[in-house]
Amino acid sequence: MYRTHYSSQITEELDGKKVKVAGWVYEIKDLGGIKFVWIKDREGIVQITAPKKKVAPEVFKLIPKLGMEDVIAVKGTVNFTPKAKLGFEILPDSIEVLSKAQSPLPLDPTGKVKAELDTRLDNRFMDIRKPEVMAIFKIRSSVFRAVRDFFYREGFVEIHTPKIIATATEGGTELFPMKYFEKDAFLAQSPQLYKQMMMASGLDRVYEIAPIFRAEEHNTTRHLNEAWSIDAEMAFIENEDEVMNLLERLVAHTISYIREHSEKELEILGFQLEEPKLPFRRITYTEALEILADLGKEIPWGEDIDTEGERILGSYIKENYDEDLYFLYQYPSEAKPFYIMKYDNKPEISRSFDLEYRGIEITSGGQREHRHDILVEQIREKGLNPESFEFYLKAFRYGMPPHGGFGLGAERLIKQMLDLGNIREVILFPRDRKRLTP
Ligand code: AMO
Repeated sequence: MYRTHYSSQITEELDGKKVKVAGWVYEIKDLGGIKFVWIKDREGIVQITAPKKKVAPEVFKLIPKLGMEDVIAVKGTVNFTPKAKLGFEILPDSIEVLSKAQSPLPLDPTGKVKAELDTRLDNRFMDIRKPEVMAIFKIRSSVFRAVRDFFYREGFVEIHTPKIIATATEGGTELFPMKYFEKDAFLAQSPQLYKQMMMASGLDRVYEIAPIFRAEEHNTTRHLNEAWSIDAEMAFIENEDEVMNLLERLVAHTISYIREHSEKELEILGFQLEEPKLPFRRITYTEALEILADLGKEIPWGEDIDTEGERILGSYIKENYDEDLYFLYQYPSEAKPFYIMKYDNKPEISRSFDLEYRGIEITSGGQREHRHDILVEQIREKGLNPESFEFYLKAFRYGMPPHGGFGLGAERLIKQMLDLGNIREVILFPRDRKRLTP
């Protein structure tokens, strides 16, 4: 291996010892009789110090030929000294150039020269060399780890459902059509029908982490055309509260995990992530409309709470209760998909909820209608044909327990957790209205 230690692993015990470090040339300084190279790796920066008298002539001669962002590997001796900016330096025995970087660079990876988001995304590989961008993706990795840990601990089984499907599940959102040999098919916009069918299998508690595809018309800072969804479904629930209880524990666990395991990354981002208070506040749709009306925003009962309404509510909760996360629940049945259960005694209201994080929806969920005939009726009410859902309805005819679940948008969660302005910041290669490459 070209590397024995990352920059962060060089500690005082290694003083005087031989190590191999490798990375990208970050800075070069030539003071005549002594030359310096700083190289950057995943964990930080290492200083290479080359005094003419102490290093081999070929090493000394090579340094001025290095270019910014060249990939090099250095073998040398660790020297702890207060003279070095980082507290230590490496006196090189050899420097090997593994890859030259062309010049000029497409963007400045030190971040001193700011680049537009489009330029950054066009050159994502280099954008990620900036510590604050890399920090986001390390946190993203830890979020998925925290989520998996949580579900594992809670006895959930990880499932994987098809992404090429025949029928739509979510009203309102657009599908990406595709040709499937002689048939028309779509890219999955949600694992909804499949995770519900698993409730008839006896697996009882399942989750899936997978991409969802939605042909969103508009370019916004909160929509992607390919996003990652954390879906869960659980059987034998008595009401939607039990699903909300699970979700709030999942989100609180994830935030705590990041606070604990991504301390360095949060520091690089200069962000103080607060521990959320459990349980999350629960506000009914009707109460939310009343709050909004008091604040001067009238929304007729039955209509969706729009982006502005969500934002106003978010600020209201923050100002009055100092909370970032809260549920909106009991939405009008008309505003929700066919699979959501209605209250038997009040069918205009549904057993549904959204989880909001700083004024943006990060999750939808609810208790599902598990009674076959009522479900068929609800499919019809939405103007859909039950025949197209035959493969799904079949699972409701041979023993289907009461169940419920949710879909949590991973990018929305991470964007809101880190209070970032644009969802594109938290996905490597965003797919939006204009962006199909890289
Ligand atoms: P919904 O359509 O509300 O519900 O989606 C669930 C969550 O997925 C995320 N999300 C998106 N994130 C980024 N870009 C998009 N275009 C996008 N669309 C959705 C959001 C949203 O809250 N089947 C239900 C879930 C369920 O009831 O289990 C569903 O898909 O964070």
